[in-house]
Amino acid sequence: MSTGEVLMVSVEEHYESLLSDVYTWLMGGFDEAKRSNLEFFQNRNITPSSSGIAFDLGAGSGFQSIPLAELGFNVTAIDLSQKLLDELRSNSNNKSLVTINDDILNFRDHLSTNCELIVCMTDTITHLKSKNDALTIFQNSFSSLEDGGTLILTFRDLSTELKDTDRFIPVRSDENIIFTCFLEYECETVKIHDIVYIKKNDKWELNKSSYRKIRLSVEWVEKQLSNIGFKIEESSNRNGFQTIVAVKQS
Ligand SMILES: C[S@@+](CC[C@H](N)C(=O)[O-])C[C@H]1O[C@@H](n2cnc3c(N)ncnc32)[C@H](O)[C@@H]1O
Repeated sequence: MSTGEVLMVSVEEHYESLLSDVYTWLMGGFDEAKRSNLEFFQNRNITPSSSGIAFDLGAGSGFQSIPLAELGFNVTAIDLSQKLLDELRSNSNNKSLVTINDDILNFRDHLSTNCELIVCMTDTITHLKSKNDALTIFQNSFSSLEDGGTLILTFRDLSTELKDTDRFIPVRSDENIIFTCFLEYECETVKIHDIVYIKKNDKWELNKSSYRKIRLSVEWVEKQLSNIGFKIEESSNRNGFQTIVAVKQS
């Protein structure tokens, strides 16, 4: 690689080579993430009321899929990372949960009837390659939901640019792992450089990899959802994460 050139890999390769091994740890561990997501759904009265079919787009290790299955949904969990889907499977004994290794842009291929709930949470939507792909997910969600069905998105609004050293984010560290993120802003995207030191045999080893996220503003997402025909029931921000709950009006 020539000097100064940044090796940019696909999202799938990034998770394979770096992120999937530490993802659950990075998010505070499975039990805590499961607990907070269960609380998230319970606070919003998200329980099966018609078909009970739910799709989890970008399910990862199951922080949403497993609480939803426990709440009684028949969950289809889709993700590009087989490692994270294997982790999801080992976190769950629930038989009403199906895992599928595929791009979320193909989620309708796995749908035999309209569903009651679609979730795409913790920034999965910003992992797509373009705003057009995000729009495709919104449109396909609308056409795949039952009347009265719900789409839940949670994502970081990366439209406002951080400057200088504020672009270094200390994500998590303990005595064995130090995970830092560096953000490089582009017009439509942000290059995310993940820098991980892992202690092995008393020596720190560096693993680094970069991928892109798209910059979606809350206003843009709300406007697209409304244009498609969704009613926005909630749009709120907590700890930098935007939650949008959109309902397909009958
Ligand atoms: C930040 S994680 C969120 C995982 C999970 N929803 C959570 O809250 O922990 C993003 C996930 O989306 C997956 N992903 C990203 N782009 C994808 C795509 N186009 N199709 C399928 N999965 C994708 C990644 O493999 C990763 O598991």
